Amino acid sequence: MSVTPIGGRLHDELRRKVTTASLREQKLRHEPITCLTAYDYATARLVDEAGIEMILVGDSLAQTMLGYENTLSVTVDEMLHHVKAVRRGVKSALLLADMPYGSYQIDSEDALRNATRFVKEGGAEVVKIEGGEKRADLIRRIIDAEIPVAGHIGLTPQSVNVMGGYKVQGKNLSGIEQLMRDALALDRAGVACIVLEGIPREVAAMITAEVGTPTIGIGAGPECDGQVLVFHDLVNLTFAPAAKFVRRYGDAAGLIRHAVQGFRADVKSLQYPSDEESYHLPTETKTGLDMVLARKRAMQR
Ligand code: KIV
Repeated sequence: MSVTPIGGRLHDELRRKVTTASLREQKLRHEPITCLTAYDYATARLVDEAGIEMILVGDSLAQTMLGYENTLSVTVDEMLHHVKAVRRGVKSALLLADMPYGSYQIDSEDALRNATRFVKEGGAEVVKIEGGEKRADLIRRIIDAEIPVAGHIGLTPQSVNVMGGYKVQGKNLSGIEQLMRDALALDRAGVACIVLEGIPREVAAMITAEVGTPTIGIGAGPECDGQVLVFHDLVNLTFAPAAKFVRRYGDAAGLIRHAVQGFRADVKSLQYPSDEESYHLPTETKTGLDMVLARKRAMQR
């Protein structure tokens, strides 16, 4: 497999299998952890080969891939379809799968059954669950079943209707206290990492300093142990204005538009395909065919 050569040693390190233990080591070494979402084989391969340590099949695929309004509609089966594709593209990164809304809120048996499906059928190594303190017992049960769990607190998109929109959390003292309780509960429960989404930088820094678990920020400032972005935000493929924390590293929409318009224009103007882009008969077949056609034309005269 080819990776952009950045230098032999670094190259080898990038290709080493990432585990929940190696993430903790990275936190201890203060080596920033990178995480991106991916929802299909091709993207997963590119992200993995670039040396990103964690790949998340986020329920954000409800919006980015399936065009739903929010993340609430996506089902376990829809998620699994994407997790399986991503699994086939990932070699080194740690593969996380989001448990979608409704797959862990009903009861713990149901949650355990769904978490197990992500591991057995999807090949996920970690499942991610939104919520802090109130999910700690459930998370312990899932970890007891040998399934590593990632926590996710702050702006939790599955709570959009309760939060009354996508709002930055932890902006007042009681909010900060709740976030700290959530983070400590997840830390004690033994999660593999804690996603901190949409919270003030100062609060994320306090949590990161307080817990042994690696924190992965999205809209949570630079003091987190790592950063995650939604792939479609990174490459501008969202059809929506970017949130404050998003940095665009590419313009996939522009690239795709340009390619599609070019194809259309070339076909309409008979510029595509050219003779070089066409298959040709072998010479003897062509000679034989020409003779058959000539004989046919002579008989018709
Ligand atoms: O679904 C998702 O993509 C996520 C990330 C934003 C962390 O949960």
